[in-house]
Amino acid sequence: MTDPRPTLRRPQGTTGTRILGVGSAQPDKIVTNDDLSQIMDTSDQWIRDRVGIIERRFAEKDELLVDFAVAAGTAALADAGVDPSEVDTVILPNCTMPSLIPNASAQVAARIGIPNPGAFDLNAACAGFCYGLGVASDLIKAGSSKKALVIGAEKLTDSVDPTDRANAIIFADGAGAAVVGAADEPGIGPVVWGSAGELVDLIYMRDHKYIYQEGQSVFRWATTQIAPIALQALAAAGLDPSDVDVLIPHQANLRIVEAIAKKLRAKGAREDMVVADDIKYSGNTSSASIPLALDHMRKAGTVKSGDLVLAVGFGAGLSYAGQAFVCP
Ligand code: UT7
Repeated sequence: MTDPRPTLRRPQGTTGTRILGVGSAQPDKIVTNDDLSQIMDTSDQWIRDRVGIIERRFAEKDELLVDFAVAAGTAALADAGVDPSEVDTVILPNCTMPSLIPNASAQVAARIGIPNPGAFDLNAACAGFCYGLGVASDLIKAGSSKKALVIGAEKLTDSVDPTDRANAIIFADGAGAAVVGAADEPGIGPVVWGSAGELVDLIYMRDHKYIYQEGQSVFRWATTQIAPIALQALAAAGLDPSDVDVLIPHQANLRIVEAIAKKLRAKGAREDMVVADDIKYSGNTSSASIPLALDHMRKAGTVKSGDLVLAVGFGAGLSYAGQAFVCP
């Protein structure tokens, strides 16, 4: 006897997804290391040697996280040749939205002209963009979304104690975005993600005050624990280290970026693998750093369409995520 209960239709998803376009936005105001050394006890040499930053961008008081998100999202849609009306999902990774409600995503979508999308913010701190890209890709594969816009955006300068010289010199503002859609061939590998909640006290921002981090402990964790995650993300996509054309780790500290690259090369990544060093001119922009770097590298021609990119984000939580994808 057949079961009389109704059955749900099989998901109308896809086997493949890809990034269709990227975009970014930063404040106009450039702040050099010498500028900072005028207002705190630091030096250009210390910052270059310990962190690798040459200059960064700081927002003005009236420039908000949502403004950068709108600009980056609009640029990514233009790059993809996708009309806002085609987007049904907006995911906005960030950890510095000044209000918990309203969130950033719904108002950003409205300002971009995306009609009534599913919209949510996602807080996985500096791992946020890779989390968001993973969720977007899987929503499309499952048939819950056709086109998604993922925008990592931060105004970290609101959350940094200007007298805390370790943090005040690294964090900066900006946004980076990617449009994700269906594809015949897989263009975004599975996300490999995780967390280490027992290390929660290493980075935090309580009551929307200032960011605190135990820099050296986070540094040690990032330089030992994150390269293996990147390798797992490659394996999950059926790839080898030698396949990677471009490595984009979260731009936390150039020494962390270089340590991750060195570990991947020890496992077979090529010497000519391009390694993102966008932190030199953008600083650490948390959720925005990976798409910002990708957009800048595409514009500079250091990453080309079709290149195999490996991204890995890590930060407060502690949380981490990575995936391989094909550059649009
Ligand atoms: O993005 C989210 C994840 N975050 C990260 O991945 C950040 C990881 N950590 C780091 O990148 C580094 O730990 C920092 C950049 C945050 C700090 O660099 P550090 O080399 O670990 O410095 P430290 O905090 O251990 O301080 C070493 C020394 C101290 O002086 P003493 O006590 O040895 O005399 C600090 O007071 O450097 C001093 N210092 C500075 N000196 C000049 C700290 N900040 C500065 C500064 N200028 N801006």
